[in-house]
Parts: sequence; structure tokens; C-alpha cells
Amino acid sequence: MVATGKGEVDQVAEVEPHYDRQSELQAFDETKAGVKGLVDAGITKVPRIFIQPQCSLDDGLNGTKGIFKFPVIDLDGIDTDPARRKEIVDKVRDASETWGFFTVVNHGIPFSVLEEMIQGARRFFEQDTEFKKQWYTRDYTKTVVYNCNFDLHISPAANWRDTCYCYMAPNPPAPEELPDACSEIVIEYSKLVMKLGCLLLEFLSEGLGLNLSYLKDIDCAEGLAVLCHYYPPCPQPELTLGTSKHSDNGFITVLLQDNIGGLQVLHQNQWIDVPPTPGALVINIGDLLQLISNDTYKSVEHRVKANKVGPRVSVPSLFSTGPRPTAKVYGPIKELLSAENPPKYRATTVNEYTQYFRAKGLDGTSALLHFKV
Ligand code: OGA
Ligand code: NI
Repeated sequence: MVATGKGEVDQVAEVEPHYDRQSELQAFDETKAGVKGLVDAGITKVPRIFIQPQCSLDDGLNGTKGIFKFPVIDLDGIDTDPARRKEIVDKVRDASETWGFFTVVNHGIPFSVLEEMIQGARRFFEQDTEFKKQWYTRDYTKTVVYNCNFDLHISPAANWRDTCYCYMAPNPPAPEELPDACSEIVIEYSKLVMKLGCLLLEFLSEGLGLNLSYLKDIDCAEGLAVLCHYYPPCPQPELTLGTSKHSDNGFITVLLQDNIGGLQVLHQNQWIDVPPTPGALVINIGDLLQLISNDTYKSVEHRVKANKVGPRVSVPSLFSTGPRPTAKVYGPIKELLSAENPPKYRATTVNEYTQYFRAKGLDGTSALLHFKV
């Protein structure tokens, strides 16, 4: 088909998937301005590199809402009351087995710190674009990585989201290596998240019938990546996603979100909204914890819808050493295995798992399947 006029070119683009996607991605990537750059420039239509296949938007799973109660766990009294602790361990275990997700309140991180973390992330993305570009990279050995979609060049559709992240453990960067816009708060916030993560790993260890320090002792809290996501307002939210369906690749994730909403969790074959609650944090099980718990805890798929309203800011902290080489090998925990519960996965390293996850991109399937025996 030969396109003769402008209108026809547009039409061809809609029915003809063989447009030069790679060069459009390349040109967009080279702007180093991310999705925010497009919105700042005043676009009124979602460029085709972001358009999701219809099946991933309308996957028939939008069934009855409101019949499920998303688990909320109150950590108040954890240090003072042993009976409370038992109750909390049970709740964490139940939620991790069935939802793979739960919200925690009274978790010990002050509200003012949460607020400032959201503001710090926002300041980073809203600083002058020319200045911000210095951080834009796909070189994952850099201390700070800011870009638009880690899987931009390989995913079936780009997501309506920009991201900036840094590994805060092990070996936290010096303050001057971090962007001024958020360095102080990232350092403070990450210390508190590390503390909370270690407490959650105690509950999760006990929930598996193991010694409370088990998961910490095998270094599930060795690495911590703090990500800042920025989801600009989207002119056609029905055509794209903020984050495609995926599960997280670390041990656990601690997610801070602002009050816009859009996060959904796949539960009993339905997308359930995770409503923003001021002061609360969302916790979810990652693939590596599902692997070592031999499927007791579930790393559940989730996504973020695009929204006409925005920006939305979220800050997920992933407990993982990521792609850095470590010798430690993780397989299903021996103490959990028996004749009735044989290992479901082969052992791997965090590095190997992360490399595989990243090379695959958010294509809608779980990286865990690759490690099944
Ligand atoms: C993620 C993620 C959710 C959000 O970064 O893995 O799922 O609300 N983020 O941004
Ligand atoms: Ni996620």
C-alpha cells in the first residue's frame, strides 16, 4: 500500500504494524526528556510506540470490583506485645500466600519522611530538562540511572512512565553522587526502608516456620534499589499503560505511592485496585522470595494504569542486589522441602535472575517460569 497523503499515512500506521518502530524508539530515547518531555511539548495524542495491543488493556479481567478486601496490616504494638507479634506474623503469612501483596500502617516511618520522599522524587523529574539529561543513561553500571523504560527497545509497547533509581545497599553512594534534588531524603528514606524491610523479613521467616533471622541471614536484605517513578498525565489513557503487567524480581518490594492511584493487583483473575492510603506502604513478595519459599509466598502480577490526571509519583524499594555479581546461590530453602514438597525451581543467583528479567522486559509473562524444574 502506498500512502499519498498525511491522513493516509496515519491510517496506515494504525493497521500496519510494520512501521519503523526501532527508529522511532531511538529518536525518542535520544531526546533524553522521557514521557514528561512529550507532555511538556503539549502532545495531545499518544505516540504509537506507547500503544498497547488491545488484548493487554482489555484482557477481560475487569470483573466485579469491591468483593475482595485488600489486606491491611497494622504494625502497632509490635515491639511491646508478644501476642500482637504472633497475630501480625499470621496476617503477613496469609496475605503473602494468597495476595502476594498487603498494606502496612504504623510501620515506623514518619509521615513527614514519606511526604518528603514523594516531593524529592517529584523535584528530580521537574527540574530543568537540560540539566536533568546528565543522568539519562542505559549504562546500568552508573550509580544513578534515569531513563524512560528500562526495556524501551525490547518491550512490545512502551510505558507512560519515566524512572530514576539508585542502589542504596550494599555500598551506599556518597551524597554528592546523588542528584541534589533528592539526595538527602533518599539517604534518610532508604535507611528507614532497610529497617522496615528487615522487620518484614523476620515476619516472613517466622511465617515459613523458620528462625526469625533466617531470611536476613541468607542476605535477602543485602541489596536495596530505590526507584522513583514519574507517571505524567496521559491524553489518551485508554491506549497505554503506566507500567505493564509484571511481577517484581527481588525478594520483597516496599512501595510508597502518592494519592493519585492506578496500581492494580491480579487477584483471583481480576484486577483489584490498590487504593492509596496516606501514610501507608504497600508491600509485595518478589520472584526470588517465591522461588526460595518454593511457591509458599506468591510473587503476584500487578500493573499501573495510565491516567488523565497526574503526574503520579511512586517510590518502590526493591530488596535485591540486582545485576552486581555475587557468588550466593538461591534455591528452594532445604528446611521447607520434603517428599511431598519437592523443589519446584532450580537454584540461581540474584545476578543471573536479574539479567534474565531485564533481557526479557515487561512482556506480560513471568521470569520465574524460566527457573522451574
Ligand atoms: C514496580 C511497580 C508500581 C507503582 O516498579 O515494579 O510495580 O505504583 N511499581 O509504580
Ligand atoms: Ni512492580
